[in-house]
Amino acid sequence: MKVLVIGASGQMGALTVRDLVDHYKADVVAADLKLDRVKKVAELVGINKVTPLQLDATDPHALKQAATGADVVLCNAWYELNIKVMPVAIEVGAHYGDLGGFYDYTFQQLKYHEKAKDAGVTCVLGIGSSPGITNVCGAAGAMRLDSVDTISIYCTWGTKVKTADASFPAYSVRTVLDELTQNPPIVENGKHKRMPVLSGETEVLMPEPAGKVVAYYIKHSEAATMAEYIGKGTKNVSFRIGFPANDFATFKTLAQLGFSSDEKVEVGGCRASPKDFITAMYLRAVASSRDSSDIVDEYDYFRVDVNGEKSGAPATATYFVTTWNDRDSGIPSGRDTAVPPSITADWLVRGKIKERGTLPPEACIDPEPFFKELGKRKILVEEQLQDSRRYY
Ligand SMILES: NC(=O)c1ccc[n+]([C@@H]2O[C@H](COP(=O)([O-])OP(=O)(O)OC[C@H]3O[C@@H](n4cnc5c(N)ncnc54)[C@H](OP(=O)(O)O)[C@@H]3O)[C@@H](O)[C@H]2O)c1
Repeated sequence: MKVLVIGASGQMGALTVRDLVDHYKADVVAADLKLDRVKKVAELVGINKVTPLQLDATDPHALKQAATGADVVLCNAWYELNIKVMPVAIEVGAHYGDLGGFYDYTFQQLKYHEKAKDAGVTCVLGIGSSPGITNVCGAAGAMRLDSVDTISIYCTWGTKVKTADASFPAYSVRTVLDELTQNPPIVENGKHKRMPVLSGETEVLMPEPAGKVVAYYIKHSEAATMAEYIGKGTKNVSFRIGFPANDFATFKTLAQLGFSSDEKVEVGGCRASPKDFITAMYLRAVASSRDSSDIVDEYDYFRVDVNGEKSGAPATATYFVTTWNDRDSGIPSGRDTAVPPSITADWLVRGKIKERGTLPPEACIDPEPFFKELGKRKILVEEQLQDSRRYY
């Protein structure tokens, strides 16, 4: 299997490259803006299976050249690039996957459904952890129920030993700043609507050591598709993050100080936007953390509640997705985002995903075998079913 991974030296891209080689012995072209960083990833993973490539995915000619001959193109770079990369994958007849269009881009991508179908390819939109595993959990829950009313998704992360130190997030700092400044969409009573930033405050019980966390609505892709593609009457869909207190304080301060701005400012004769500046700092920190041998035990948790009815009475299917850093391999909990694109690439090439077109995960991924594949990487999905009986 030949896979082109774009953004291959990012936090997620580097782990996807590793999974593709470790689990599927794929031939990977690992593409990113900076050759030295992507070469480093190739050295870590196995230089005979990985070809490093310097590529700016906004250059359509270079992108087409790189994508030609690939069985699958995975876009693990910024979500803004999806809409540039996906049409090129369709044009060259390659299957495609990405980590989500941050709600708004998802709608633009869905417009390519017929084009992708005509080209005989499948574009899986948002196949990371969230969106990704969470969408598949929603579909799994719907299969257990006769009808669905509400799907509520929650996320949190943290470390085993609590620290008061500030840290960079485990995923793109650009996305975190966007999450804290853009109005979160939800589906309420069958209608898509925008809520105020950091509204929807709710206490939710997550597995230990997170325990009870306070979660807020955050802009995410799940609300773009789950009601329509899961169907069964689904009227309400929401996504909330329960930030660890320390991270919440740090990110909120950065957002309030204007670090999410794309407007360039002049400093010492150089012009850069606050967002580009903080991104450069974050990427430097990510690169240097790869050289570090320190092990911090950290986790990533999701909870998906699917509420509805079964046999005429209220019923709930709840999914807990838990991932800890893997001490043996040194792979962080962030693999819960990086592994699903790798599984998807394998399934697309082996024909385990038969539907064609641009589709969200809930429309094309079979939950049980998918959860079992995740389990092989110690990404643990647990299902709890609760139904009720009435004697009146
Ligand atoms: N679905 C999910 O569960 C989930 C979870 C986490 C993150 N995400 C999303 O996944 C995306 C990547 O996240 P991340 O944490 O891996 O980000 P990251 O560490 O910042 O990595 C992004 C990579 O893309 C590269 N890149 C940027 N522009 C490019 C271009 N024009 N051509 C080629 N490569 C380019 C960057 O290169 P430079 O460093 O040189 O700029 C960087 O190496 C984000 O949009 C994030 O929101 C999704």
